[in-house]
Amino acid sequence: MSLATQPRELVSLRDICIVHGRGPTATIAVEGLDLDIGRQEFVCIIGPSGCGKSTLLKAVAGLLPPASVQGTVTVDGAGADEARKANKFAFVFQEPTLAPWRTALENVRLPLEVAGRRKPHRSPEELLDLVGLKGAEHKLPHQLSGGMKQRVAIARALTLQPDVLLMDEPFGALDELTRDRMHEELLNIWSATETSVILVTHSLIEAVFMADRVVVMSPRPGRLTATVGIPFDRPRAHALKSRVDFLDKVNEVRTALEATHDDHR
Ligand SMILES: Nc1ncnc2c1ncn2[C@@H]1O[C@H](COP(=O)(O)OP(=O)(O)O)[C@@H](O)[C@H]1O
Ligand SMILES: [Mg+2]
Repeated sequence: MSLATQPRELVSLRDICIVHGRGPTATIAVEGLDLDIGRQEFVCIIGPSGCGKSTLLKAVAGLLPPASVQGTVTVDGAGADEARKANKFAFVFQEPTLAPWRTALENVRLPLEVAGRRKPHRSPEELLDLVGLKGAEHKLPHQLSGGMKQRVAIARALTLQPDVLLMDEPFGALDELTRDRMHEELLNIWSATETSVILVTHSLIEAVFMADRVVVMSPRPGRLTATVGIPFDRPRAHALKSRVDFLDKVNEVRTALEATHDDHR
């Protein structure tokens, strides 16, 4: 294949339809959704509560019954099952879901044990350092703050060097100041990896601050209704959030989000 015809996109979602349940009580969560994510791209998906954001991420990660998902997911041209078996996806949920009896370091090591892999790209110690937890390696989850636990979950997600990090409102349970700090830190972590990120959020500011591109989802059944490119230089620091051109972008996304609501009224 010549360079010109090589796919630029890393992940392609084509005509994704997801239905929860069967029969008269079936819920169409996502319908006719197409999305491409580039290599090392940071994409935020924003949409109203209940529009199918979590459902979409779970479908990509293979966490839903296959019968409920239609359409195709490809990673690097390969099918989704193959990609999942090769650990190309990693998931960070809103709640960090750490094993409570394992230290921070042991939690980060867990995927290596499960996958039976000896030589990671980055050691669990390096990853804990990357997420700012040097010195907390031997603490148990109950000894860590909410923000620290979520950093452990992020380090754990990076252990098998995923191509794509799927994040479902990862900072939703944190207080506002911690969340602000985590925004900058996640961007620093991401810039030190080769990972693409798909982050779901309902925060306009979070989406605009983090993303290369914000995609807007309609109320259920969720489809993509708008895409807003985010041009701000990186690295991005907290001060960006008070700039006028930043607030203009936030308003642009807000308008796109309101337009999909109005269509449904
Ligand atoms: N396991 C399930 N069984 C039945 N319905 C579900 C299930 N999970 C989610 N839903 C429904 O699908 C829709 C989308 O849910 P979800 O993806 O969690 O939305 P979001 O993450 O955007 O808030 C909602 O109407 C929700 O009630
Ligand atoms: Mg959700």
